[in-house]
Amino acid sequence: MAEQKKLLRALAGETQDVPPIWMMRQAGRYLPEYRATRAEAGDFLSLCYNPELATEVTLQPIRRYGFDAAILFADILLVPQALGADLWFVTGEGPRLSTVTTEADFTKLGPVSDIHETLNPIYETVRLLSSALPSETTLIGFAGAPWTVATYMIAGRGTPDQGPAHLLRQENNALFEALLARITEATIEYLSMQIKAGAEVVKIFDSWAGSLGGEAFEKYALEPCRQITEALKQRHPGIPVIGFPREAGDKYVGFAKATGVDCVALDNSVDPEWAAAHVQVDGCVQGNLASRHMVTGGQELVDDTRRIVKAFGNGPHIFNLGHGITPDADPDNVQRMIDAVRDG
Ligand code: CP3
Repeated sequence: MAEQKKLLRALAGETQDVPPIWMMRQAGRYLPEYRATRAEAGDFLSLCYNPELATEVTLQPIRRYGFDAAILFADILLVPQALGADLWFVTGEGPRLSTVTTEADFTKLGPVSDIHETLNPIYETVRLLSSALPSETTLIGFAGAPWTVATYMIAGRGTPDQGPAHLLRQENNALFEALLARITEATIEYLSMQIKAGAEVVKIFDSWAGSLGGEAFEKYALEPCRQITEALKQRHPGIPVIGFPREAGDKYVGFAKATGVDCVALDNSVDPEWAAAHVQVDGCVQGNLASRHMVTGGQELVDDTRRIVKAFGNGPHIFNLGHGITPDADPDNVQRMIDAVRDG
């Protein structure tokens, strides 16, 4: 049965005339129905921890557009919160966390075995979704990659250059590595519980992988992704994993082989023709239309969509944006993109 689903077929390596399609941040502020449910929940974190409402917002883009996959509605920063960090969102600015920059801060974090107490509502959302979704729609679970999550835990917020995390990595490497190990272990337990609850695929978001160069990329982006993938596949044989080392550039080449992921998600800084030749040769790729087309629309949106479908047309491909859709996007442009993928 599972093999009938378009997304799972692509992940198994099948080339399809029309690729499966979904969109990062497909449940989000560009949709009026999302804004209404978020208002009902009160704030973003209350929405994440309310299984009924989180299920509702996950289903909204499926009802509106018929995407081939639904992604669990949650956030990568729930893991640090479950480890004991304070987390809050400042409207119009983004996330804020209590920082981890000293041994004393690190000691205050809780053990991995305690995370489920906080994260149980997320598993409940996965359970609700796996019975509510249409039979052709694949349910994707996710977590942040250890490096990306650590950048927020160290700086206490999003940073343009991940400076504070790079500083700790150089000045107190033992502490940095201990933090990364804790996040890696928590991520394995968290994703494992999502899979038990019904997630059919998991995706690891390494949004800031591109700021790690050379040996640091191997140690702190590639290696944690390899460890998580290996542990999950040991516990849940056959579970497909999507890796997203965003802005990895030429380090996308060989990433699937080195980590064991079934699919590499590509951001839109890489050329689809280049990626078809150098990344898709190893298996499924996902991507990579620039999100700005969802704001600007027009003929360029259609042309770029067709170009990507064509470039990846000779191998397994999941159509997606190169990064999340933004709140200023026009919902009609999403339909135009889908039509260009499905009708050519
Ligand atoms: O893709 C999906 O629809 C699934 C849900 C999802 C969210 N965040 C919901 C969300 C996923 C997969 C994420 C991942 C995430 N969260 C990442 C990695 C992917 C990426 O975008 O690079 C990161 C870095 C975060 C951390 C985070 N969460 C930031 C920096 C922000 C603020 C920026 C913003 O867009 O407002 C968030 C908030 C957030 N996460 C929103 C949503 C829908 C917006 C919250 C709102 O409704 O106000």
